[in-house]
Amino acid sequence: MKNQTKTVEYNLEASEFNWDIAPGKTIKAWGFNKQVPGTTIKATVGDTLVIRVTNNLSEPTMIHWHGLRIPAVMDGTGVVQKPIQPGEVFVYRFVVPDAGTFWYHSHLNETVQIEKGMYGALIVEDKTDPVFDGEKIFMIDDMKLNKENEFTTPKWFLPRIVERHDGREGSTLLINGKENPTINIHAGQTERWRFINSSSARYFVLHLAGKEFKIIGTDGGLLEHPRTVTEALITPGERIDIAAGPFTEGETFAIESLEYNRSTFLKAKRQKFATVLVGEKKSSVAFIPEALRKIEPLAKQDAVITRKVKLSVGPSLKDGMDFLVNNDVHVNDKPVRVGELQIWEVSNTSLMDHPFHLHGFFFQVIEENGKAPEHLAWKDTINLTPRSKTKIAWMPDNRPGTWMYHCHIIEHHAAGMMANFEVIDADKTNDDMIAEHVHHCH
Ligand code: C2O
Ligand code: CU
Repeated sequence: MKNQTKTVEYNLEASEFNWDIAPGKTIKAWGFNKQVPGTTIKATVGDTLVIRVTNNLSEPTMIHWHGLRIPAVMDGTGVVQKPIQPGEVFVYRFVVPDAGTFWYHSHLNETVQIEKGMYGALIVEDKTDPVFDGEKIFMIDDMKLNKENEFTTPKWFLPRIVERHDGREGSTLLINGKENPTINIHAGQTERWRFINSSSARYFVLHLAGKEFKIIGTDGGLLEHPRTVTEALITPGERIDIAAGPFTEGETFAIESLEYNRSTFLKAKRQKFATVLVGEKKSSVAFIPEALRKIEPLAKQDAVITRKVKLSVGPSLKDGMDFLVNNDVHVNDKPVRVGELQIWEVSNTSLMDHPFHLHGFFFQVIEENGKAPEHLAWKDTINLTPRSKTKIAWMPDNRPGTWMYHCHIIEHHAAGMMANFEVIDADKTNDDMIAEHVHHCH
């Protein structure tokens, strides 16, 4: 029987509003439908989403659908659409082709707009998803607030340099817009917990007080097999789905992040984000098969590299340092052609980590620092440790237009570590491609 697809409509109003992150602790947030995170968008594979965005902020905005393989014109960036001005409405409309945990966020003045709360989860389900006793979404964030719970930006050179270099990290730790929320789960049950790192710069190392959990999915949906671990790194932009439980009645433990040293000025710490309370025992219907799905490898480890993308940090007179792609800031990269397999070597020559994000397409890691990865996964964001090289493979399917890649530490993206490039129709000639490339560079 064929899937019955449907059209699912949502309204998202972007505005400023008061938001309680804890009892008696209120911030002036920017977000969608007066909540942080914004309304969770849900659909089933093949559905058409129609999302009407009304901008009631005092400045323009645009919305990017992080991880969705949709047409270029719907990608929500400044290279494919005009900003949505205050008072204006823009309707995004696209089919969701893949099941998984995705998210949406502002793609304009992000260092302000995302920091203040302009993000939400977007979940795409499939009939073949494994069965759980329940499901929760956890959007990880932190905010940098002053004593009056206001967002301020550093005025002086040194703190400004720290924020530019480290990315903006704050000491207000949030899960779903709340400080240290209580999470309830029944003893004996197993739930699907979808983690999304929506912070500007925080490296979140998921840890459930040392308890084992199973990773079942990443950015682009399910893995081939569940992987049992006790910790998992989730960089800004990344997602991980886990099977959590079963736990014992009456237990309580923390959802925390272990320290991750990414060579920042500010020291990494182990920190608590939420408290889990395990309630009364209930029966379980959860079933997580060993074979979750099949992922066809796109390329072998020794596939010939078609492009090199080098991330680095260089000196800048004005701001202390620039964040570079192939030795330049805000780059126009060469086009790629529909149907031509891409093998990119993404390298990081700097002394700090960068989460590399490709818009609109999933890739597979085929080599990491000289080694083939232990398992296959569909990804749109991957971490590059200092002085490292990763080979990724991806296929430009038939969605021509302008796309981009960038570091998902929002301050690095803003400081230049990003590039646009064209995906060109298969039937265009090389001359057409060169002409379009020249056109976009000017
Ligand atoms: Cu979540 Cu341009 O990215
Ligand atoms: Cu970076």
